Amino acid sequence: MKPNPGGILAPNEIVGRDLVIAHLKATLEQQSVLITAERRSGKTHVLDKFKSEAPQNWAVIKRDVGALRSAAEFTQYVLADLYPFLSPQTKFRNWVNDMVKDLGGTKIGPVALPNFAAKDWKKTLEEAITHLDELPSIEKVIFLWDELPWMLEAITKKNPQEAMELLDCLRALRQTRPAKLRMVFTGSLGLHHIVRQLKDKGYNNTPVNDMLTLEIEPLSVPDATDLARQLCQGCGLQSVNDDLYDLLATSVDCVPYYIHHVVSSLLKIPNITSKPLDASSVEAAITQAIHSADNPWDLQHYEERTLAYYSAQRGECLALLDAVASSSAPIPIAAVIQRAKAAYPAVAQQDWIELTRLLERDHYFKRNPAGEVAFKFTVVKRWWIWHRDLATAANVIGSNK
Ligand SMILES: Nc1ncnc2c1ncn2[C@@H]1O[C@H](COP(=O)(O)OP(=O)(O)O)[C@@H](O)[C@H]1O
Ligand SMILES: [Mg+2]
Repeated sequence: MKPNPGGILAPNEIVGRDLVIAHLKATLEQQSVLITAERRSGKTHVLDKFKSEAPQNWAVIKRDVGALRSAAEFTQYVLADLYPFLSPQTKFRNWVNDMVKDLGGTKIGPVALPNFAAKDWKKTLEEAITHLDELPSIEKVIFLWDELPWMLEAITKKNPQEAMELLDCLRALRQTRPAKLRMVFTGSLGLHHIVRQLKDKGYNNTPVNDMLTLEIEPLSVPDATDLARQLCQGCGLQSVNDDLYDLLATSVDCVPYYIHHVVSSLLKIPNITSKPLDASSVEAAITQAIHSADNPWDLQHYEERTLAYYSAQRGECLALLDAVASSSAPIPIAAVIQRAKAAYPAVAQQDWIELTRLLERDHYFKRNPAGEVAFKFTVVKRWWIWHRDLATAANVIGSNK
């Protein structure tokens, strides 16, 4: 296997994930799922592998909806995606063709789909779903909507009411077909940010409380080591033992995206394949990526996105992140807040608690059973310390890599 960081992998190149896919499948037998995970942790490839292994009588429809900008456009894509399954059914085909005759059509792939007026999207979506009853041999119809929160965010900016109605409509549709219809929402932006924005505009519903939340973690250590081994060996990089593959994988938190990157950058070292790979080359490749001003692993994003995520409370969030990054060991939450408070004395305790919880939901922090917090990913922590120059700050406790 060759490194392909950020690229689209063939199903046989997607390493591990058997447990999470089995869990996803077992859950979808019963209910819909909200998948959460940090970006680049491999969500899209979990969906791809799940789709390639799904039972024959499940219609699995995967669509990246991140670039769609309205509920009407979303509805058009739902029709386009149902078309291959439903077009052999006369009732569905006639329904679509009649709408195209009335409203005119837009081609999505080979199919002409109706240009229904924005106000009709909800009725059309509801009607489209009733046509699922025309598929008796299909046990489940599963929509995998990747990057749904980005679409909802774009709709919210233009028309928050429409975003609220779409979320409510999808929930209502799930209730109408409890045996057959399933939805999987995922994306790198947490849906909780959208719901928070909508709540500020008067939204009071709980649009996903019927869905099970499933977090996609990085690969297991054996799977991540296996990926490192396969990539190194696929490129002629040899190690005398497996410890080096384990070191490579665990030094980047078993995140497959970084493992691909490390192998890719090792290959740039002259004559690297002529001698056994050593730990110092691996460590140097990782450190170089973390320190590079070219931002090759896109770590800058962890700071940039705080602007969009926490807007008015960004300063407080950065202070919390700095406090946790400055500690070499997990730190009690009260101590984190106390340090951050020094710069923002007027902020209420409840707001600090809410902010630390949000930073945990956004995968910056993890909390141990003793209630202490630490960065979830050491790569992000190392970058944070480097980028914000915390290593030279007087308040660093202990040493950091
Ligand atoms: N199971 C896996 N096995 C091997 N490489 C993977 C796996 N999952 C992800 N990757 C690598 O990580 C990159 C990002 O994965 P992706 O599924 O796009 O993440 P996400 O959707 O969470 O942002 C992929 O392009 C690939 O290089
Ligand atoms: Mg993705």
